Amino acid sequence: MTMKYHPTASTRHALIGLLIAFGSTVALAQLRTGESVYQSLCMACHETGVAQAPKRGDAQAWKPLIAEGQHVLSAHAFIGVRAMPARGGDSALSLEEFSRAVAWMARSAGGDWQDPDAAMMQRIRFEAEKRLDEEIHEKQKLKASLQRQNQ
Ligand code: HEC
Repeated sequence: MTMKYHPTASTRHALIGLLIAFGSTVALAQLRTGESVYQSLCMACHETGVAQAPKRGDAQAWKPLIAEGQHVLSAHAFIGVRAMPARGGDSALSLEEFSRAVAWMARSAGGDWQDPDAAMMQRIRFEAEKRLDEEIHEKQKLKASLQRQNQ
Protein backbone atom coordinates (compact mmCIF):
# COMPACT_ATOMS: atom_id res chain seq x y z
CA MET A 1 0.00 0.00 0.00
CA THR A 2 1.40 3.43 -0.93
CA MET A 3 0.98 6.32 1.46
CA LYS A 4 0.33 9.72 -0.04
CA TYR A 5 1.26 12.84 1.86
CA HIS A 6 -1.56 15.40 1.86
CA PRO A 7 -0.55 18.37 3.96
CA THR A 8 -3.44 20.01 5.75
CA ALA A 9 -3.99 23.75 5.38
CA SER A 10 -2.40 24.41 8.76
CA THR A 11 0.67 22.32 7.87
CA ARG A 12 0.99 24.27 4.65
CA HIS A 13 0.77 27.54 6.57
CA ALA A 14 3.41 26.34 9.00
CA LEU A 15 5.70 25.41 6.11
CA ILE A 16 5.19 28.78 4.44
CA GLY A 17 5.90 30.45 7.79
CA LEU A 18 9.14 28.51 8.10
CA LEU A 19 10.21 29.55 4.62
CA ILE A 20 9.49 33.21 5.38
CA ALA A 21 11.36 32.98 8.69
CA PHE A 22 14.29 31.36 6.91
CA GLY A 23 14.26 34.06 4.24
CA SER A 24 14.34 36.90 6.76
CA THR A 25 17.14 35.25 8.73
CA VAL A 26 19.19 35.16 5.53
CA ALA A 27 18.34 38.85 4.93
CA LEU A 28 19.46 39.71 8.49
CA ALA A 29 22.66 37.73 8.10
CA GLN A 30 23.50 39.77 5.02
CA LEU A 31 23.33 43.14 6.79
CA ARG A 32 26.76 44.69 7.04
CA THR A 33 28.05 46.13 10.29
CA GLY A 34 28.16 49.89 10.78
CA GLU A 35 31.93 49.76 10.86
CA SER A 36 32.21 47.97 7.52
CA VAL A 37 29.78 50.42 5.86
CA TYR A 38 31.81 53.27 7.33
CA GLN A 39 35.05 51.87 5.98
CA SER A 40 33.74 51.19 2.52
CA LEU A 41 31.92 54.49 2.04
CA CYS A 42 31.56 57.13 4.77
CA MET A 43 35.26 57.18 5.56
CA ALA A 44 36.05 58.92 2.26
CA CYS A 45 34.73 62.17 3.77
CA HIS A 46 34.35 61.59 7.51
CA GLU A 47 37.89 60.42 8.24
CA THR A 48 39.52 63.73 7.35
CA GLY A 49 36.48 66.04 7.41
CA VAL A 50 36.01 66.76 3.69
CA ALA A 51 33.72 69.80 3.19
CA GLN A 52 33.26 70.16 6.98
CA ALA A 53 31.99 66.60 7.42
CA PRO A 54 31.97 65.81 11.16
CA LYS A 55 35.04 63.64 11.73
CA ARG A 56 34.94 60.15 13.14
CA GLY A 57 35.81 60.18 16.85
CA ASP A 58 35.51 63.97 17.16
CA ALA A 59 33.45 64.17 20.36
CA GLN A 60 33.03 67.94 20.13
CA ALA A 61 31.63 67.83 16.59
CA TRP A 62 29.31 64.91 17.35
CA LYS A 63 27.91 66.20 20.66
CA PRO A 64 25.22 68.47 19.12
CA LEU A 65 24.48 65.85 16.44
CA ILE A 66 23.98 63.10 19.02
CA ALA A 67 21.71 65.50 20.93
CA GLU A 68 19.33 65.55 17.93
CA GLY A 69 18.40 61.94 18.69
CA GLN A 70 19.16 58.74 16.80
CA HIS A 71 16.01 58.64 14.64
CA VAL A 72 16.27 62.31 13.64
CA LEU A 73 19.98 62.35 12.79
CA SER A 74 19.92 59.00 10.94
CA ALA A 75 16.88 60.02 8.88
CA HIS A 76 18.14 63.49 7.96
CA ALA A 77 21.60 62.26 7.03
CA PHE A 78 20.08 59.46 4.91
CA ILE A 79 18.06 61.83 2.74
CA GLY A 80 21.01 64.23 2.56
CA VAL A 81 21.79 67.50 4.30
CA ARG A 82 23.77 70.34 2.69
CA ALA A 83 27.09 68.85 1.42
CA MET A 84 26.21 65.39 2.80
CA PRO A 85 24.92 63.37 -0.17
CA ALA A 86 21.77 61.25 0.23
CA ARG A 87 22.69 57.67 1.23
CA GLY A 88 26.31 58.78 1.47
CA GLY A 89 26.29 58.73 -2.33
CA ASP A 90 25.57 54.98 -2.70
CA SER A 91 22.12 54.57 -4.25
CA ALA A 92 22.07 50.87 -3.29
CA LEU A 93 22.69 51.39 0.43
CA SER A 94 19.73 50.39 2.63
CA LEU A 95 18.34 52.65 5.34
CA GLU A 96 19.21 50.01 7.93
CA GLU A 97 22.86 49.65 6.95
CA PHE A 98 23.17 53.43 6.68
CA SER A 99 21.69 53.82 10.17
CA ARG A 100 24.12 51.24 11.54
CA ALA A 101 26.97 53.32 10.16
CA VAL A 102 25.56 56.46 11.83
CA ALA A 103 25.28 54.57 15.16
CA TRP A 104 28.85 53.33 14.81
CA MET A 105 30.10 56.86 14.10
CA ALA A 106 28.16 58.20 17.11
CA ARG A 107 29.74 55.50 19.31
CA SER A 108 33.19 56.38 17.99
CA ALA A 109 32.58 59.90 19.30
CA GLY A 110 31.35 58.93 22.77
CA GLY A 111 27.66 58.20 22.08
CA ASP A 112 25.90 55.01 23.16
CA TRP A 113 23.73 54.38 20.09
CA GLN A 114 23.22 50.75 19.15
CA ASP A 115 22.36 49.13 15.83
CA PRO A 116 18.71 50.14 15.41
CA ASP A 117 16.14 47.48 16.33
CA ALA A 118 12.81 47.15 14.50
CA ALA A 119 11.12 49.86 16.57
CA MET A 120 13.98 52.32 16.01
CA MET A 121 14.03 51.50 12.28
CA GLN A 122 10.34 52.41 12.11
CA ARG A 123 10.98 55.77 13.79
CA ILE A 124 13.88 56.49 11.41
CA ARG A 125 11.79 55.59 8.35
CA PHE A 126 8.87 57.70 9.57
CA GLU A 127 11.13 60.72 10.23
CA ALA A 128 12.77 60.36 6.78
CA GLU A 129 9.36 60.28 5.07
CA LYS A 130 8.19 63.30 7.05
CA ARG A 131 11.31 65.28 6.15
CA LEU A 132 11.02 64.31 2.47
CA ASP A 133 7.37 65.41 2.45
CA GLU A 134 8.45 68.79 3.84
CA GLU A 135 11.17 69.15 1.18
CA ILE A 136 8.76 68.16 -1.60
CA HIS A 137 6.27 70.73 -0.30
CA GLU A 138 8.96 73.44 -0.34
CA LYS A 139 9.88 72.56 -3.93
CA GLN A 140 6.22 72.61 -4.97
CA LYS A 141 5.88 76.11 -3.50
CA LEU A 142 8.97 77.19 -5.45
CA LYS A 143 7.53 75.71 -8.65
CA ALA A 144 4.18 77.41 -8.06
CA SER A 145 5.90 80.76 -7.58
CA LEU A 146 7.76 80.29 -10.90
CA GLN A 147 4.52 79.45 -12.67
CA ARG A 148 2.96 82.65 -11.30
CA GLN A 149 5.94 84.66 -12.61
CA ASN A 150 5.55 83.10 -16.05
CA GLN A 151 1.95 84.20 -16.41
C1 HEC B 1 31.07 62.87 -0.23
C2 HEC B 1 31.37 63.07 1.16
C3 HEC B 1 30.56 62.33 2.21
C4 HEC B 1 30.32 60.98 2.29
C5 HEC B 1 30.77 59.87 1.36
C6 HEC B 1 29.54 60.79 3.51
N1 HEC B 1 29.31 61.99 4.12
FE1 HEC B 1 28.25 62.29 5.83
N2 HEC B 1 28.58 64.30 5.68
C7 HEC B 1 29.34 64.92 4.70
C8 HEC B 1 29.37 66.34 4.95
C9 HEC B 1 30.12 67.38 4.10
C10 HEC B 1 28.61 66.57 6.11
C11 HEC B 1 28.32 67.92 6.79
C12 HEC B 1 27.05 68.48 6.20
C13 HEC B 1 26.78 69.86 6.73
O1 HEC B 1 26.49 69.96 7.94
O2 HEC B 1 26.89 70.80 5.98
C14 HEC B 1 28.11 65.27 6.53
C15 HEC B 1 27.30 65.06 7.62
C16 HEC B 1 26.89 63.83 8.10
C17 HEC B 1 26.09 63.63 9.27
C18 HEC B 1 25.50 64.74 10.14
C19 HEC B 1 24.22 65.21 9.47
C20 HEC B 1 23.58 66.43 10.10
O3 HEC B 1 22.33 66.43 10.24
O4 HEC B 1 24.28 67.41 10.40
C21 HEC B 1 25.93 62.28 9.42
C22 HEC B 1 25.15 61.56 10.51
C23 HEC B 1 26.64 61.64 8.32
N3 HEC B 1 27.21 62.62 7.55
C24 HEC B 1 26.72 60.28 8.14
C25 HEC B 1 27.32 59.68 7.03
C26 HEC B 1 27.33 58.25 6.81
C27 HEC B 1 26.70 57.23 7.73
C28 HEC B 1 28.00 58.05 5.64
C29 HEC B 1 28.26 56.75 4.94
C30 HEC B 1 27.14 55.87 4.72
C31 HEC B 1 28.40 59.35 5.13
N4 HEC B 1 27.98 60.30 6.02
C32 HEC B 1 29.10 59.55 3.96
C33 HEC B 1 29.98 64.30 3.65
C34 HEC B 1 29.93 62.95 3.36
